[in-house]
Amino acid sequence: MKKIIALNWKMNPDSLAKAKELFSVVDSQMSKVKDSSDVVICPPFVYLESLKAESSIPAGRQEKLKVKLGAQDLFWETSGAYTGEVSPKMLKNMGVGYVIVGHSERRKYMNETDEIINKKVLAALKAGLKVILCVGELKRESRIKNKELRIKKAKDYVKNQLQKDLKKIHNSLFKIHNSLIVAYEPVWAIGTGKNCNPSDAAEMAEFIKNFLMAYDLRLKSVPILYGGSVTGSNINQFFDKKEINGVLVGGASVDKKEVNKILKEL
Ligand code: PGA
Repeated sequence: MKKIIALNWKMNPDSLAKAKELFSVVDSQMSKVKDSSDVVICPPFVYLESLKAESSIPAGRQEKLKVKLGAQDLFWETSGAYTGEVSPKMLKNMGVGYVIVGHSERRKYMNETDEIINKKVLAALKAGLKVILCVGELKRESRIKNKELRIKKAKDYVKNQLQKDLKKIHNSLFKIHNSLIVAYEPVWAIGTGKNCNPSDAAEMAEFIKNFLMAYDLRLKSVPILYGGSVTGSNINQFFDKKEINGVLVGGASVDKKEVNKILKEL
């Protein structure tokens, strides 16, 4: 299965000029990246349109070498009186292919519930966007001393999120197996510099895959990413695990040196 590197810029950088500079660091490496890998940049909404025009790969040629664009969020309705929101179709019509849904920072700061996330997942899939659904246990679970119990509690937490976030996707007419990506992001590992042990991340990735397959066999092909303090120095440890199909990178994705290191590992 091909590797996916999703770069989540979060609320960075603070100007379009800097966003273009960062984009060009990735773009200039793309000819060296193996064909089988997808690199997705998820910038703030305000930069999406401009960055689309920045690719050095001419339209229609070597499509697979192009940096893909993703949004960091979306709203579930198609249009109407929803001040400040961005619809799935707006993203699709702009040429955006991916969207992150259910990131823990939105769950925490914007009070996004699993019910809201489920609506967003369904709306994004219906619009033909690829969804990067983020799940992962909290710090509370990571504090449990007994390893077996810690892992069990983490799996229970993630399973509960998946059950709620993916509710009713089986009723959908769209090809979910081609459009869904799940990112395992333990909340305690995000932005802390304390990445998850790669073997534990691989065990969780396998657990997620088994959950998905029990839900619907077609979901066997859903890529499972790991996210949480991934850097150019530790990315290989995650890529070495066959259960992990890629990474979601936050902090290191807006650091030019780190970005170069990360792309060299592909
Ligand atoms: P981090 O963030 O790489 O800074 O830990 C990952 C994420 O939030 O997606």
